[in-house]
This record gives sequence, structure tokens and C-alpha cells, in this order.
Amino acid sequence: MKIAVFDSGIGGLSVLYEARKALPQEEFVFFADEDNVPYGTKSKEEVQALVADAFDFLVGKGVKAIVVACNTATSAAVTEMRRRYDLPIIGMEPAAKKALDMDGEHRVLVVATPVTVKGNKMKVLIEHVDKQHLVDLHPLPRLVEYAENQEFNSQAVLDYLARELSVYDFSQYSSLVLGCTHFNYFKDTFREILPGNVSLVDGNGGTVRELIRRLKERNLLEKNAPSTEYYYSGRRVQDKEELHRLESYLQRLGRMYALT
Ligand code: DGL
Repeated sequence: MKIAVFDSGIGGLSVLYEARKALPQEEFVFFADEDNVPYGTKSKEEVQALVADAFDFLVGKGVKAIVVACNTATSAAVTEMRRRYDLPIIGMEPAAKKALDMDGEHRVLVVATPVTVKGNKMKVLIEHVDKQHLVDLHPLPRLVEYAENQEFNSQAVLDYLARELSVYDFSQYSSLVLGCTHFNYFKDTFREILPGNVSLVDGNGGTVRELIRRLKERNLLEKNAPSTEYYYSGRRVQDKEELHRLESYLQRLGRMYALT
């Protein structure tokens, strides 16, 4: 049986990339809701309806687990999906706890989509882990569009990030948390802007460890010939050019992987 990795778009490839490394004998289905990306600027109700459609499709394919490789979809819809379906559903939340565990004295900036920043899940997470009030939240909606257009380190992206982040005194910060899977493509650009004392933190490793734990728990780990099927909003991607586009995203993620 296959493991589904789901995102509004190509951000979820960053989780697929790490999941395939950790689970080299599993079969994967990657679902990007390319017809409806971005989710992060829609209403919570709209995101819930889109996530429900994607889940219906993936459960219909008989997958054994679904990784919601999208902080926005997790924030808006994962509770309802867990109520509805009995398979392991692994969500993603911005890795604020990881950042605070690395350095509990300096400030932490979480960047994410507007839906994630405004969501109740984020509020609950902050109340739970940020006892010293060190965490700031900042939405960066345009990065999702830039990532979908394969524009990662143009002058426009640099100017956008420099402008958005100019309000922070980064000498007071220990890390910047990438609270949206699409943001993993911009690690090199973030590095150009941020001083060396600020680390880049993402939640991909933790999500993959949780996936493995949940699969083990239900005795669902398998040893198969590895494979990945790609879907855009329910349509199988088989076109050479599109597969090439996905491959070039994965290659970029390979280059970004070691940057912290
Ligand atoms: N990749 C998604 C996340 O992790 C959201 C991108 C979007 O706005 O669709 O939040």
C-alpha cells in the first residue's frame, strides 16, 4: 500500500524528498492541488472543502497513510479529517518548539501563510510552547506564488523578503521558522538576507519521524520496490515536461537541504 503526501502545491515535495530518503522501500503518491493553490490566502471554509476533496480522492486510491505536507491545510482541516477517516494522518505545524528547544533565550520568527498565522492551531501551539513570549509571527503569502512560478532568487524575491523582514532587529533572534512547506525553496535567498546568528528551521524531519512512528504502530511499514506517482488535483501527471518540472523542484530541494 502507498503513502500519500498531500499539499496545495509543490511545497509538499520538500516532505516527499525527506520521506523517500528515510523510507527507501516504500511506494508514494504525491498530490499537489495545482488547480487551487494557493490555500494560504483563502478562507478557512474554502480550504476545508478543498482538503476534503483531496482526502476523498486519496482514500479512494487505498493509501495506507496521508501526510498533510501543508501547514495551512493542517491548520484548517486536519481535525475534521481525523474525525472522518481511520487511517494515520500526519499533519504539520510550524516548528516553533524545535526552534525554542535549540535556543530558549533569543527571539524566534515564524513565517507562514496568512491562514496558518491567523489560525487557532497556531495560537494553541504558541500558548503551549512559548512560555517566555519569544515567538513572533509574520505572514509571507507571496512566496507561495513565487515558488509555484519557479522564481526563487530573483531581485523581486530578494526585494520582497528584504522589505517584509526589515521591521525585525535580527541581532535579537536565534532562528527563522519556515512555517510553510513552499518556503523551503528559498533557503539560499533567506541566507542572503539574514545574519549568521539566525538559523533556518523547518519541520520536515519531525514530520517524517512521526510518519514512521505511526506506520510502525500499525505495522504498516513495507519493503517494496520504491516508486512515486504524481497527481495534480486528481489528474495523474504523466506529461514529460511536467515530470521534468517536478524533478527540477526536487533537485533544488536537494541543494537547499543542507542549508540551515
Ligand atoms: N505549502 C503550504 C503550507 O505549508 C501552503 C501554501 C499555500 O498557500 O497554498 O502552508
